[in-house]
Formats: sequence, structure tokens, C-alpha cells
Amino acid sequence: MFDTNTITRFKDLETPFYYYDLGLLRGTLEACKNASDKYGFHVHYAMKANFNPKVIAAIQSYGFGADCVSGNEVSTAIANGFDKSKVVFAGVGKSDKEINTALDADIFCFNVESIQELFIINELAQAKNKKANVAIRINPNVDAHTHHFITTGLDENKFGINSWQLHDVIDALRKCANLKFVGIHFHIGSQITDLEVYKNLCNRINEMQDWFEDHGFPVKVLNTGGGLGVDYHNPDTNPIADFEGYFKVFKDFLKVKPGQEVHFELGRALVAQSSALVSRVLYVKMGQKKNFLVLDAGMTELIRPMLYQAYQKIENLSRQSAVRSQRSEAKLKYDVVGPICESTDCFQKDVELPESFRGDIFAIRTAGAYGEVMSSGYNLRDKVQSVYSE
Ligand code: LLP
Repeated sequence: MFDTNTITRFKDLETPFYYYDLGLLRGTLEACKNASDKYGFHVHYAMKANFNPKVIAAIQSYGFGADCVSGNEVSTAIANGFDKSKVVFAGVGKSDKEINTALDADIFCFNVESIQELFIINELAQAKNKKANVAIRINPNVDAHTHHFITTGLDENKFGINSWQLHDVIDALRKCANLKFVGIHFHIGSQITDLEVYKNLCNRINEMQDWFEDHGFPVKVLNTGGGLGVDYHNPDTNPIADFEGYFKVFKDFLKVKPGQEVHFELGRALVAQSSALVSRVLYVKMGQKKNFLVLDAGMTELIRPMLYQAYQKIENLSRQSAVRSQRSEAKLKYDVVGPICESTDCFQKDVELPESFRGDIFAIRTAGAYGEVMSSGYNLRDKVQSVYSE
């Protein structure tokens, strides 16, 4: 991701910024497209992962649909060229305003997360004399074996409708003349690296689709959600997620009936590796128990390590470039922290790094998903900038 020219270019730039490797992004999108096209699968990009305009332009150009979780994501997707017939809208708390935005945009489908929401969408669609496509988001109670903060498919989670409520769902669907049931939707969590988990999900989906059909509701769309994980530890040796292996699990274990469509909602796997947060060392504080490297980026630019104890690889780019090769080979342990007035503003503790100095340029890798989008203005910080490889 970082050749000498790129690092030299960074020397003249104000930090912090998100650096986007658009070549790697395209390579990733192509790998996903090829792997999913093989089976005729439909992929919607989960906009929440990153809505940087250049990133979504690249994604849209490959013909992916959009998975949105707010009215603004719906409008942004459509304004950026995503085909409205490929836009889906999930979220446990869609407001009336957001539902109306999506109804006006004639999106493909609402992924509905409660029985009450079904009645509200029906009412709002009726007022517009429209019929809204709906898929029922079912909470399958399948453990995603990922961090509990990003697990969504267990009974204890707020998302989706639990299986014991499905009789009420079909009663509601029968009453709602302005809804058209198109299918079932699932999303069990994020950063899933154990593909076995998806086999369990397929089994649950197979049971659920039979249940709906047995009750007189043919299922056209099987939407399996997203969640495919990436390798945060080895971004250079493993820059592209295992799309082939991922889609193959669904090909092998999902019982797809004639006329059915299989949909996916991938976010992280499409964008994570193609960006890094680039920052400078402001101060080096050498202590008796701890050494601190204080960067000019903090939790306001990238909050994942603080919020989920997420690991993201930290590198001193200055030490990798030829410019600094005359420096000592000493390795030291540092807590790499940000400038924000919060103790939790620490990217990682006890990181072994080459001896580092004020002005050294650092990269925090695999930051393309849930990085820039989760930045905040806390402490009245400047909005984080973006720099592109081309
Ligand atoms: N579909 C639904 C309904 C979702 O809620 C999500 C993500 C996705 C698809 C895309 O999941 P992905 O393929 O990106 O795993 N901020 C957290 C991750 C939150 C994920 C929220 N939902 C993080 O930084 O790890």
C-alpha cells in the first residue's frame, strides 16, 4: 500500500488524513463481483461502512446495489447513481420521515425489524397510494463468534423479529394491503472470519423459508446480510477478503429454489483494507513504566480501537522509508495514543515499534470500514481529510 513515493508524498501533507488506495479498492470490488457473479448472487454495499464520495462512486461503477440504514443513506445512494431497484433499507428505528423518503424513492425493499414497523410502513404507503416491498428481518439466534459489541443475531440483541413472533408477522401481512412480502432477511454480525458460522445461518434460512412457504407466503428473496471479516493483522499479505470461500458456503448450503434470488449486504470486506489513517507523532513521552507516542489523530478520527477494543495494525512509515534508514535499529514498546482529553483515547498499548520521533509519519491500517464515517467533532476537532492514491 505504501511505496517510497507515497511516503515521500505524505511528508508535505498536513495530517491526520485517511489515505485511500483506489487501485486496491477496485481490485477488491472486482474479486467480489467475480465471485458473486459466478452464482448469480446480488450484492448490496452496506453504505454505513464508508460513504466517502470517491469510494461509493467506485462501488457503484461495479453495479452493486446499496444497503442503507437511514433515509439520508437512501437519498445519498440514489444521488450517487445506485439503481433504486437495488436499494434496500434496514434499521430497527426507521422514522416516519425516513420511511417516506424511501417510499418516494421507490426503493427495492424495506427490511422490516418489528411487527409495529410493518403497520407503520403500510399506513405511510397507503397515504401515498403505493405498495411497499418488504422482507422480514428475522433474528435467527445464530452466534456469529465475533466481538459481542458487533454481534446482532442473538435473541438478546435488539435487531430483527424473533422466530416465536412469526405467526403474528403473517397475521399482520394479511392485514396490510399496501405491503408486498418479498422475502426474508438476516444479519448476524460483523467481522466474521469463521465461515462455519455461515453454514449455521444457511441451515436457519432453509428452515425459515420453508416455514413461510408452508404458511402460504412464497419467498422470492433470501437476504443473508453481511459480516464477512478481513485480516486486520496481515493487511499486506491478505489484502482481499475470502469472497470465493464465502459465497461458496451459500452456494453449497443454501437451498435456493427456482426463481429465488440470493442477496448479500457486504460493507467491511469491500472497503476496509483500501484505506489507512495517516498521522504524525506530535510528542514522545518516555516514562519509567510506559512510553507514549502522542499522535495527531485520536478517537475523533478513528474510534474502533477505543469502542470495540479492536486491533488495527500500527506502522511507523518514516522508519520504513529510505529517508530514515540511517536511524537506529532499536525497538521499543509504546502506548500509541491520541490527543483527546479521554484516557480511553489509546489506539493500542505496548506496541513494539522502531524507535520513533516527533514528526514520524504513522499509518493505522485497515481503516476503510467504519473509520472515516464514525469520526466526530468532539473537542471541536477539524474534520478529518481524505487523500487518494490517484
Ligand atoms: N447489513 C446490516 C443489516 C448491518 O447492520 C450491517 C452492519 C451490514 C449489513 C454490513 O456488515 P459488514 O459486512 O460491514 O460486516 N462499527 C462496527 C461494525 C458495525 C456493523 C453494523 N452493521 C465496527 O467498526 O466493527
